[in-house]
Amino acid sequence: MRLAAAIVSLVFLAACDSGTEQRDAVASTRTVQRAYVPVPPGTVPRGASAHAAALAPPGPERTPALLVHGRERFNAFCSPCHGLDGRGDGPVVSRGLAPPPSYYEERLRALEPAQIVQVITHGKGRMFPYADRVPPEDRWAIAHYVKQLQAHGVGDASRQGSAAP
Ligand code: HEC
Repeated sequence: MRLAAAIVSLVFLAACDSGTEQRDAVASTRTVQRAYVPVPPGTVPRGASAHAAALAPPGPERTPALLVHGRERFNAFCSPCHGLDGRGDGPVVSRGLAPPPSYYEERLRALEPAQIVQVITHGKGRMFPYADRVPPEDRWAIAHYVKQLQAHGVGDASRQGSAAP
């Protein structure tokens, strides 16, 4: 009888094992299904195509909030060389770096925001790319802020930020 009981419990144990495997299979199916859940609002889809889409013109809408964000990012990443007002006289330049051109040159005034995004993404001439430090959304914000600088000079983004568009 004891042997029979032992065999019965072994069979149950085996059943338990296969049950566990089935739960694993269910769990992995759930993981696959998660991809079909719609992307919640306010989040950014991941992957190469989403990345490319984020860089494609016309980019995000040019809002006062975007300009304020762009100024903040510009001051952090670009002003060391380009200067706070974009004249190409940032503090790095005074330490021996060849100065970048002023944003107020005719040729640079004519740049579209998308072209400035390109410069940030790929670099240009002596300027290194900033793709690894500046995400696509921030590149558009910076590009629009550069256009804002060219049109009105420094300080305008804060007025834009507090005024209704
Ligand atoms: C380390 C210094 C440095 C930093 C930081 C820097 N740049 Fe530049 N940038 C340069 C130099 C130098 C040039 C001139 C490149 C050339 O023509 O060889 C340049 C050129 C440019 C141009 C003109 C491109 C053209 O068509 O001639 C734009 C626009 C520009 N930078 C935007 C930016 C933005 C936006 C940022 C911040 C994300 C930035 N740069 C950060 C040094 C820098």
